[in-house]
Amino acid sequence: MFELKNATMIYDMDKEEKVYAMRNINISFPDKGLVGIIGPSGSGKSTMMYTMSTLKNLTSGEILYNGRSITGIKDAERQTLRRDEFGFIFQRHYLVPYLTAVENAVLAANCPKKEAVEKAKEILLNIGLKEKELDKIPAKLSGGQRQRVAIARAMMNNPKVLFADEPTASLDHENAYLVMDRLREYAKERLVIVITHDHSILRDTDMTVEIWDGSISDVKQGLLQETA
Ligand SMILES: Nc1ncnc2c1ncn2[C@@H]1O[C@H](COP(=O)(O)OP(=O)(O)OP(=O)(O)O)[C@@H](O)[C@H]1O
Ligand SMILES: [Mg+2]
Repeated sequence: MFELKNATMIYDMDKEEKVYAMRNINISFPDKGLVGIIGPSGSGKSTMMYTMSTLKNLTSGEILYNGRSITGIKDAERQTLRRDEFGFIFQRHYLVPYLTAVENAVLAANCPKKEAVEKAKEILLNIGLKEKELDKIPAKLSGGQRQRVAIARAMMNNPKVLFADEPTASLDHENAYLVMDRLREYAKERLVIVITHDHSILRDTDMTVEIWDGSISDVKQGLLQETA
């Protein structure tokens, strides 16, 4: 589904001190399954996710999505791709403070409002929010509940690719595993890419990519790939 070819991303190109966030990365990702991306802080994990999802442009190299180059595609196309095919769970969840859980989840829905509200409720309940929490604003929810609202929002349009940047960073172990279970379930049909520092949440991945200083230092294929 994704193919990165000599993908390179350099920040501060115009400055003396350039930052090599991605160095000649070559890798392919499958159509579905749970992919973990792990590596120390500053190793380039978020940058890789941003370039794959067209939020940032590569400095050089190319990224193919379903066989087609998405490097340098037009803005309109980029937006359609992001809205219809990609879902995002960011490092910080960016919920709108004055909207309820359900309202936050339907924000970027690409279907009629009424339908979206029903769908949002269904997803939120399915990932463990209680009925009484659906109409609360983020300030009245716990960190784990907020994170689940962000996940529901990312799943609203049933994206083909779900990008999750540290989705469990603000959660205790129990909630982290709950969230990972839900992502793993989603990954049965779709591609889910999870960035983390934490090895313990990456059990049962189909593929784990280790990043070190802008380069891939290791790729482990999980059981699915080995038996496929
Ligand atoms: N907008 C930017 N301008 C300049 N340098 C940047 C920018 N964003 C990131 N960097 C640098 O690029 C490198 C990779 O950053 P990136 O955010 O991809 O790392 P990360 O692996 O996601 O780290 P973390 O685990 O802390 O989130 C780091 O050295 C960082 O300082
Ligand atoms: Mg990051």
